[in-house]
Amino acid sequence: MSDDAVNGTSHAQEACGDRSQRVAALCREVAASAAPMAHCSLLRRKVERMTKKTFPSDFLWGVATAAYQVEGSPLADGAGVSIWHRFSHTPGRVANGDTGDVACDHYNRYAEDVELMKRIGVGAYRFSISWSRILPDGTGRVNQKGLDFYRRLVDALRRADIRPMATLYHWDLPAALDDRGGWQNRDVASWFAEYADVAFRALDDGVDFWATINEPWVVMDGGYMHGALAPGHRNLFEAPLATHNLLRAHGAAVAAYRAAGKKQIGIVVNLEPKYLASDSEEDRAALLRADAYMNRQYLDPVFRGSYPEEMRDIFGEAWPEFPSADFDAIRAPLDFVGINYYLRGVTKNEPSAVPTRSTNVRVPGAIYTETSWEVFPDAFTKILLWFRERYGAIPVYVTENGSAFYDPPTAISDPVEDPLRVHYLRGHLTALASAMEQGANVRGYFVWSLLDNLEWSHGYSKRFGIVHVDFATQKRTLKRSAVVYSDVIRDSGIED
Ligand code: BGC
Repeated sequence: MSDDAVNGTSHAQEACGDRSQRVAALCREVAASAAPMAHCSLLRRKVERMTKKTFPSDFLWGVATAAYQVEGSPLADGAGVSIWHRFSHTPGRVANGDTGDVACDHYNRYAEDVELMKRIGVGAYRFSISWSRILPDGTGRVNQKGLDFYRRLVDALRRADIRPMATLYHWDLPAALDDRGGWQNRDVASWFAEYADVAFRALDDGVDFWATINEPWVVMDGGYMHGALAPGHRNLFEAPLATHNLLRAHGAAVAAYRAAGKKQIGIVVNLEPKYLASDSEEDRAALLRADAYMNRQYLDPVFRGSYPEEMRDIFGEAWPEFPSADFDAIRAPLDFVGINYYLRGVTKNEPSAVPTRSTNVRVPGAIYTETSWEVFPDAFTKILLWFRERYGAIPVYVTENGSAFYDPPTAISDPVEDPLRVHYLRGHLTALASAMEQGANVRGYFVWSLLDNLEWSHGYSKRFGIVHVDFATQKRTLKRSAVVYSDVIRDSGIED
């Protein structure tokens, strides 16, 4: 990394340079088309108000996906069953009975998808590895054919000059391990390290960045607290154990990496900055609980070696005393942190809401996505600065950011026009640049997602892709957001 890249502050400066030439050119154009002169001064004012945010030349621009959401062929070539395969085949768990059996058929079409990435111009691809493709029973026997798929993918990316970022766990635990207690079993840390070690030894030469766990908060909250995600439990006492074992597994994988790997390793967390719904004392206390639960529960142990003090208040007697020796492994130094940002939470006290006794309120007049998430780019700036302030200058990659808006099942134009997603993307890139101007040490950004895909329990009903997928034919069509993203990457900047 250049000195420039180390100092995030100087990167996203305004570049107004050639504005006067552009105004003059625009005026000449208007005059030639015999438009009224008033038009010309309007344009001049518009251009003068425009600022351009620029990013460093070595900024990493990427797109992201996850194995169960895009690959399909979950049992091909000797792969074992994952908890998501089992969950989606359980009636009532996923909208419309959708499963990942075919998904985007990325398992067979990865080469075409790498071509698409090349067309868009991205420099990095974040994908995840399916644990049960590689170790069908979770531990023990290695399935070489599973590893071969990721080898082919990594090689294709390298040939296209796209840097691979591999996530080891994006929610698809081998079902055989769930049967042994899954994230409730303390042994999961050594199971995970065993799997991670196989992946590191097979792929580290081609993979530049490794992420241990994607969004441990979602694994705990969706999988063990509220049950909307696999394995679908709802148990106040299981949630803290899942949290702690996820972090222990993360630490064990980092230790394995230091012995076997040569590149970079980090963890990926989802952050949701909390704002007050009112100034009342109750809402203020609720905000602290919600913030501890979502934003500090994983980062505090990793960077400060202990859980936030609010955890005991949140979980009551379900929050156990964890062995203090566990934190030595959990706080192993990392090379980077991945931050996923989608929305903010405007928080109010809600005594009936388990476990935080808080809830998000809807903001009148705001734009909401199809997943009912408020579009609020300022919170993206805020959370990146908060991270810098609380946890220091470790390099950050924004490993996911994106939005679900309605697109038709079949592409009706090429590119598919998706103005709301374009609006979201532009707003968040501007907010990112602004965080970098103010000191956030961000080195790269990955759009969620390259493709429309299986949005977990929503099935295929929510489209996050910048590339449209027709699930009846598997035809891919770029959306306007992909074209805009491509321009941003080419120009290393965005007009405000
Ligand atoms: C997850 C993705 C998911 C996205 C949108 C993130 O929580 O990592 O797998 O599709 O958000 O919900």
